[in-house]
Amino acid sequence: MPELHQIGQASSERDIPVPHKNGSSRLVDAFGRELTYLRVSVTDRCNLRCSYCLPEGAEFRFGDRDFMTAGQIETLVGTLVDLGIRSVRLTGGEPLVRKDIIEIVGRLRALDGIQDLALSTNGTELSRLAVPLRDAGIDRVNVSIDTLDGERFHEITRTGDLEKVWQGVEAALAAGLDPVKLNSVLLADHRPRDIDRLVDLTLDRPLAVRFIEMMPTATNKHLQQEQFRSCDWVRERVESRFGALESADPPIRTGPAKSFRIPGARGTVGFITPLSHTFCHDCNRLRLTARGELRLCLFADRTYALRHLLTDRAALEAEIFRVLADKPAEHMLTEGNYGNLASFMEIGG
Ligand code: 5AD
Ligand code: SF4
Repeated sequence: MPELHQIGQASSERDIPVPHKNGSSRLVDAFGRELTYLRVSVTDRCNLRCSYCLPEGAEFRFGDRDFMTAGQIETLVGTLVDLGIRSVRLTGGEPLVRKDIIEIVGRLRALDGIQDLALSTNGTELSRLAVPLRDAGIDRVNVSIDTLDGERFHEITRTGDLEKVWQGVEAALAAGLDPVKLNSVLLADHRPRDIDRLVDLTLDRPLAVRFIEMMPTATNKHLQQEQFRSCDWVRERVESRFGALESADPPIRTGPAKSFRIPGARGTVGFITPLSHTFCHDCNRLRLTARGELRLCLFADRTYALRHLLTDRAALEAEIFRVLADKPAEHMLTEGNYGNLASFMEIGG
C-alpha cells in the first residue's frame, strides 16, 4: 500500500488563470466563446483497461498507429497557439506510452505563447518520467487514481498496480510539478471507504482530489444505468463526516471542476458533473485527436481532419476558422446523445 503520510508537501494551491498574451484569442465560436485551451491526444493506446473506458467484451477497435509525428504536433499546435490557444494539455489514451513524449513536450514548450503546459496520465510511467517531463517543460500533471485500495484499483483498471501509480504521484510531487491533481471516476460499486481515503488526502496536503461522473460513450453506454453515481453522493458523504464544505473556486474558473474545501483542510475536493450540472456556457476548449483531427466538443458527432493541411499554413488557418463555427452550444448528454466518441481512449477526456 502507498504510504499516504509521505505525499504532497510540494504542491500548492496555484490555479492557473490563462490570460491572453496579446489580448484576445482569435478563436471565437458562434456563441462568442473564446477558445484558449487545447487538449491534445498523442496516442489512443493505453497500458491499462479501466472498466468504464474499455469494458469487458467491448467492441472498441483500435485504429492504425498512424499518429501525428512530434513535428506534426508542433506545427498544428503552434498554429493554434498563434491563433489564441494559451493553455495546452497532453492526453491519450495514455500519453506516456509514446516513446517520443519527451521530445513532444520539448517542442511544445519551445513555442512562443503557451503559458501553461499540462499532462493527464494514468501514472503508471510517472515515477520514471516525472523529472524528464519537468525538465522538458511540463508544468503540472493530473493523475487518474480512482481508489486508494490496491485490490479495487486492480479490479477497476484490470491490470494496474496501485503501488506503481502511487510512486508516480510521489515522483511528480518531488519533481515540483505543481499542482498535482488526482482524478477519480465515480462508480456505483464504490464503497464509502473508496471516497473517504481520497478525501482524507486533502486534510493535511495541498492536493486537489477531483471526482468525475462517468460519462457515456459508445463503448460504455450500457454501464451508464448500472454503474453511474453522482457527485452528490460524495458531497453528502463528505459533509456527513466533516460538516458543510466551503467553496474553494479560484476567482477565474479555469475548468469544469467546482472546488470545495473541508474547513481547515490544506487541499481541495472537486466535482466534475457533466450530467447533473452542465458547464458548456463558458467552454473554452478544443481538442485534437492523435491523428490530427479537431474535435469541437467531447460529445460532438464528428471530427475534422486537419493533418493534410499542415504544409499550407493559410489553408490550415482558413479550415480552422471555418469549422469553428460548428462548435455546438452545449452537449446533449441529458437527452442521451453522446455523439460519436467511441471511448475516452480516443481523446483522453
Ligand atoms: N467518464 C468520465 N471520465 C472518464 N475517464 C475515462 N473514461 C471516462 C468516462 N467514461 C477519465 C479518466 C481520466 C480522465 C482523462 O478521464 O479516468 O482521469
Ligand atoms: Fe487507460 Fe485512461 Fe482509459 Fe484507464 S481511463 S484505460 S488509464 S485511457
